Amino acid sequence: ARKILLTRHGESEYNQRGLIGGNSSLSERGERYARLLPEAVIARLPEEQQLSVAVWTSTLKRTIETARFLPFPKLRWKALDEINAGICDGLTYEQIGERFPEEYAARKNDKLRYRYPAGESYMDVIQRVEPVIIELEREREYVVVVAHQAVLRAVYAYFMGVAPEDIPRLAMPLHTLIELTPMPDGTMHEERFPVD
Ligand code: F6P
Repeated sequence: ARKILLTRHGESEYNQRGLIGGNSSLSERGERYARLLPEAVIARLPEEQQLSVAVWTSTLKRTIETARFLPFPKLRWKALDEINAGICDGLTYEQIGERFPEEYAARKNDKLRYRYPAGESYMDVIQRVEPVIIELEREREYVVVVAHQAVLRAVYAYFMGVAPEDIPRLAMPLHTLIELTPMPDGTMHEERFPVD
């Protein structure tokens, strides 16, 4: 792609309550982000008449709602859905620590390889996003990816050459547009734009 714009969905009701996973809608703040996003995205695009921009989301409500005001064609990828937290889906980190202390400790000890029971690990997610990355590399024009914390860590890490061990703790804040621009030497130039 000529440029990749990465963003997490706007704040969801689950984010607001500190719950992981789920398929909740946007909170009021998240809704505000969705409304501000078009202007922030368009500001990062050149002023061309026939601009080709694609918007890729996951299949979860919070990314679809976040992307809905972007005036470009959209594509939904199951491969961009958030890490599946299995038996921990819908809990807070604190509740996980109380109900499943061994799981909590195992994840803390090896966040990259730890797989949630009946769910996924970061390694699983890194594998799962591979087809998306292949398409991102094939895409000629501009792509806006609206996805989730863990999945975006994996996508970002691929393009920025982040070591696998560092992927699970990469900073991936809400309400921030990350712009990745391919440079002639094959590296990516990164800029981050908080949107509020
Ligand atoms: O809290 C938002 C969220 O996207 C959860 O749905 C997901 O489980 C989590 O972030 C992934 O981040 P971490 O791997 O740091 O728990």
